[in-house]
Formats: sequence, structure tokens, C-alpha cells
Amino acid sequence: MSRFTGKVAIVTGAGSGIGEATVVQLAVEGAAVVVSDIVAANAESVAKHIASLKGRAVAVTTDVTDETQVAALIDRAVSEFGGLDVMVNNAGIGGIQGDIDTAELSQWNQILNVNLTGVFLGLKHAVRAMKAGKRQGSIVNIASILGLVGFSNAAAYTASKHGVMGLTKSAALELGKVGIRVNTVAPAFIKTPMIARMEEAVLPLHPIGRLGTSEEVSALICFLAADESSFLTGASYLVDGGYVAQ
Ligand code: NAI
Repeated sequence: MSRFTGKVAIVTGAGSGIGEATVVQLAVEGAAVVVSDIVAANAESVAKHIASLKGRAVAVTTDVTDETQVAALIDRAVSEFGGLDVMVNNAGIGGIQGDIDTAELSQWNQILNVNLTGVFLGLKHAVRAMKAGKRQGSIVNIASILGLVGFSNAAAYTASKHGVMGLTKSAALELGKVGIRVNTVAPAFIKTPMIARMEEAVLPLHPIGRLGTSEEVSALICFLAADESSFLTGASYLVDGGYVAQ
């Protein structure tokens, strides 16, 4: 038996980077997975890769800012695999906005919509399905070290990730008694397409001397998703190469 045998999991933003590594690990360890991304071709190619590893996966195209699409995503997991045990709200966009006095409201709204409202919608509809199925669920929201500390020229991104931390705590208080755990993972800079143009600039900020990998983040996400972390809820866990220790 693997850790996720018999479990059903959804990962948003699973067509790339941290989400891709997570959905592959969940599937390899036995979960039936829904690979969800706004980019259909990427979700489909990750689902195909999982099938080639003998995992169970379906691809669903979802924009996490659209409530109708998010509700349909959750309903698809239930209709395809019989319920929902694990929800990873990972989809997100970066955002170096420049000086706060010239930052564009439209960019602020877009970043908050994807990174915070998208997590709220995933959480809302996952909880609906978990309660209906009377399952002990685990929800993992991907924030960032920028949910704990600030970063110049990234006001919207930093605010969105602080918001994810607050949302997580509030939901965990509400859901503890119905057996649904909610936690946040806070990575430092991870080598993914999102930060491709910033690598050299941010590398020296990490005491460990390198950036993290998607697999180092997915290992923590899967721990929080699994029953072995059964007493953990409402908290935030760093995977940051020492970034916040300084
Ligand atoms: P990535 O850019 O490789 O992957 C993000 C995925 O989200 C992409 O496949 C993209 O198509 C999808 N996506 C974007 N907007 C979407 C929407 N509206 N609906 C559905 N899917 C959408 O980025 P990465 O690095 O894997 O990021 C994953 C999460 O980790 C994000 O929430 C990000 O903020 C967070 N994070 C990333 C860090 C890094 O250094 N790479 C550091 C800390 C947190």
C-alpha cells in the first residue's frame, strides 16, 4: 500500500512547475488525480505522462478565477473517481509590479484574483465535496515566503500570499471538527518557469546557496496531504533553504 492508495486528489496549476511535480508524486504514490490547469495542452500532457507511469489521471482545463469552472472541476473529480480527499490549491502567477506609486490597478486585481480568490474558490468547492462525501480531507494551499515577509516591487504578490495564509487559518478553525485539515506551504524561490528571469538576482538570498526544486516542494505538500500529518492544521510550513531564518 502506498500513502495515497484509494485517495482522490486535485492539483490546480498542475501543468507546470510545483503543481506538476506534486500531481505526479500523488499519482505515483497511488492517488487517482485530476490534473487541472488553465493551459489545456499542458494539463493533458501531464495526465498522459502519469498514465505512462501506470497512474490514474484525468486532465481538466480550469481557470481558478472562474467559480463555475472551479465548481465543475470539483464535480468532475467526484463523478470520475467517487469523491475528493486531497485538494492542492497551487495555481498562481508571479508579479513584479515596480514601484508602488506607479503600480497598475489592473495588474493588482489580476494577481489578487488568481493567487487569492482562486485559492478561496478551490477551498470553497473542495470543502463542499468533502463534506458531502463525509471524507476526512486535507487541503494544501501554496503561499510563499512572501506570505511571511515582504519583497520590494511586488506589493500585489506579497499581499496575495499573506492573504492565503489568513484564509488558511480561518478555514482550518472552521473545519477541524468535521475532519478537514487546511495548511499552507511557503516556498522560497524554486526553479520553475515562473521565476526564469529572476534566478541570478534571487539566488544569493538563499543561505543554502541554491534555489529549490519543484520536487523538494512537492515532498512537503504530499506530507501535508497524507494521513501521517493528521495532527497538523491551520499552520504554514516553510521550504525555503533558510531564506526566512536571516
Ligand atoms: P509555474 O508558472 O511553473 O506554474 C503555475 C501554473 O499555474 C501554470 O501551469 C499556469 O498555467 C497555471 N495557472 C496560471 N494562472 C492560472 C489560472 N488562472 N487558473 C489555473 N491555472 C493557472 O509556477 P510555479 O513556480 O510552479 O508556481 C506554483 C505556485 O507556487 C504558485 O502559487 C506560486 O505563486 C507558488 N510559488 C512559487 C515560487 C517559485 O519561486 N517558483 C515561490 C513561492 C511560491
